[in-house]
Amino acid sequence: MAEGFIGVMDSGVGGISVLRELVRELPHEDFRFFGDSANAPYGEKTDAQVRALTEAIVERFVSDGAKAVVIACNTATSVAAAGLRDRYDLPIVGVEPALKPACEALPGGRILVMATPVTLRLEKFQQLEQAYDQACDIAAVPCVGLASRIERGNLDAPDLHELLESLVGEYAGTVDGVVLGCTHYPFVRRQIAAVLGDVRFFDGAAGTARQTRRLLAAAGALREKGEGSVQLASSIDTPEEAALYQRFFAGEL
Ligand code: DGL
Repeated sequence: MAEGFIGVMDSGVGGISVLRELVRELPHEDFRFFGDSANAPYGEKTDAQVRALTEAIVERFVSDGAKAVVIACNTATSVAAAGLRDRYDLPIVGVEPALKPACEALPGGRILVMATPVTLRLEKFQQLEQAYDQACDIAAVPCVGLASRIERGNLDAPDLHELLESLVGEYAGTVDGVVLGCTHYPFVRRQIAAVLGDVRFFDGAAGTARQTRRLLAAAGALREKGEGSVQLASSIDTPEEAALYQRFFAGEL
């Protein structure tokens, strides 16, 4: 059962922020990452479109012999994770905005949740927000255009700074914590801090990696020795895209 790879998917490069934590937490495992950059952004599509795209990728992982799947995308998790768990008999791990750790770390604080329009609209987030709205003061901002812009790299360019200004500039100096509720956003943590000032960031990557370890161990599928491996693939199959994925994985962006 420890045979097989762990399939990790996202709408694009964002899931690489989760993959980096997974590799740190589970160094003996084989990972295959698939980013659906040709169809990004998922967070501005209909639920039915996101569901169909996510299901097709997970189905391919399963038929290729995955022993577990990580949906490294808040949007796809909100839309499709529950149905996929009913369908397949293997660990399927998702991500959700890290509102719980943020409210626990900053009780009574002002918390900004940045995520895609789909993630914020769906019931999963609505319930999470309701559960914590007594514990802290939450503002949720649908960040239209941000994931697509991150897909293009060149993260210190002025247009990205302007986009962040237009999305969250009005909160500058007024928030204590920022929940990065889309797996693309950890790649622009520094750029967000340049707009908002001194804030604490929270994302779901490390928690997702720990949950993956727990589920693999419970299934008797954890590999505890040997050398692991990582394969990166994108639905945009060009050398330029492959190089961009490598740079995100290497932490060079
Ligand atoms: N990375 C994805 C997430 O965590 C979505 C980005 C997109 O809109 O495609 O929500």
